Amino acid sequence: MLLFKDGNFMQVLEGDSSVVDELYLKISRDPRHTGLITLVRRHILKRSFSDWKMGFKDLGDLTQDEKAAHSNFLDIPLNDVVYASSPDVAFKLLESFKKTVR
Ligand SMILES: Cc1cc2nc3c(=O)[nH]c(=O)nc-3n(C[C@H](O)[C@H](O)[C@H](O)COP(=O)(O)O)c2cc1C
Repeated sequence: MLLFKDGNFMQVLEGDSSVVDELYLKISRDPRHTGLITLVRRHILKRSFSDWKMGFKDLGDLTQDEKAAHSNFLDIPLNDVVYASSPDVAFKLLESFKKTVR
């Protein structure tokens, strides 16, 4: 799952740890972006984003309904300290787009 807003991305990678680590390394070396921050890395029992290979949402391009549903988050930049200090808030934001992003 990949969110984009005002030049920042927020992304969840799920899978076997070796596969995730390898992809993370590849993404971290990608010159198209800088300032990578790992918000949280954890073992999970069940995937939250298993239905698609990659969902993408530009938060600058939301419908009125989506704006209403996600209003708590939309004024906060994706690289705000609130997400680094409370990764569950970041996860809730990403999960809240699960139903609408394909
Ligand atoms: C913000 C950002 C997120 C990315 N996320 C993914 C991803 O989830 N999966 C993926 O395969 N590549 C992702 N990429 C692209 C990789 O960095 C890389 O270009 C891609 O995996 C192709 O690598 P390859 O040419 O070695 O196959 C992302 C790139 C950026 C800039």
